[in-house]
Amino acid sequence: MTHFTGKVAVVTGAGSGIGRALSVELARRGARLAISDVDQVGLVETEALVKAAGAEVRADSLDVSQRELVVAYADTVAEHFGAVHLVFNNAGIAFTGSVEKMTFKDIDRVMDVDFWGVVNGTKAFLPHLVASGDGHVVNISSVFGLFAVPSQSAYNAAKFAVRGFTEALRQEMINGDRPVKVTCVHPGGIKTNIARNGEQVEGLDHDDLATSFDKLARTSPAKAANVILKGVEKNKARVLIGADAWVLDKFVRITGSGYQGLIRTFGKRNGL
Ligand SMILES: NC(=O)c1ccc[n+]([C@@H]2O[C@H](COP(=O)([O-])OP(=O)(O)OC[C@H]3O[C@@H](n4cnc5c(N)ncnc54)[C@H](O)[C@@H]3O)[C@@H](O)[C@H]2O)c1
Repeated sequence: MTHFTGKVAVVTGAGSGIGRALSVELARRGARLAISDVDQVGLVETEALVKAAGAEVRADSLDVSQRELVVAYADTVAEHFGAVHLVFNNAGIAFTGSVEKMTFKDIDRVMDVDFWGVVNGTKAFLPHLVASGDGHVVNISSVFGLFAVPSQSAYNAAKFAVRGFTEALRQEMINGDRPVKVTCVHPGGIKTNIARNGEQVEGLDHDDLATSFDKLARTSPAKAANVILKGVEKNKARVLIGADAWVLDKFVRITGSGYQGLIRTFGKRNGL
């Protein structure tokens, strides 16, 4: 028996990276899974891995930014399994570029997926989590929800917003004696396809950005999934993943707004 045995867990953005690793790890620990993604090919691969780990799974094509579809999906999943206990709002996209160069549309897209996707998943599943009597919302922010860097304004905005939304929700659930735990996750660099799948403003080179990311990202998705699930078991308010996340969190707390000077210098050196 594990903390997750027999529980129904929803994972968005399950076709790659952290979402895939979470799905496989949850399957190994006895959870029943509802996985989804916009990437059908990646989703089918994850479904096969989850089945191989012996778990019951339903896989659905779902764009988390499509509110009505997410609400309908939540009802379908609850009906299919009879209950929903855990929701991992994990789907996300990266975008790189300065505020001056990015368009309103670029910013909208990042907010639609990285912020509204999390809000949609949380709101749509919350009644089902309450009904289960033993719910847990796990929202994936980022270290970029703890401090800002040049070229990531839209992503920073979305991830700071996820943090604020999630921290407020946790307090509401506690104050209201609601049977739903809430955890906000801040990964450092995780070796996934996020940069390769990402987009950027004109003038920045996609491959250069992806290569730089690959050098910085040190933690494996499997390790990230284990850290997240340990945090869920312990009902942590905040989960940091990777030594980089721990160091940067401390650095920002110690320096206050002073962190911006050092990060700006790093960004300038890297052409951002
Ligand atoms: N990799 C990192 O270093 C890192 C660091 C901090 C936070 N994160 C966050 O972790 C989460 C997972 O990212 P990852 O690194 O595994 O990236 P990834 O690109 O490997 O996986 C993200 C998945 O989300 C899916 N997705 C994208 N848009 C979607 C949409 N509109 N609806 C449904 N699915 C969608 C993609 O198809 C992909 O399968 C994201 O929220 C990301 O911002 C990642």
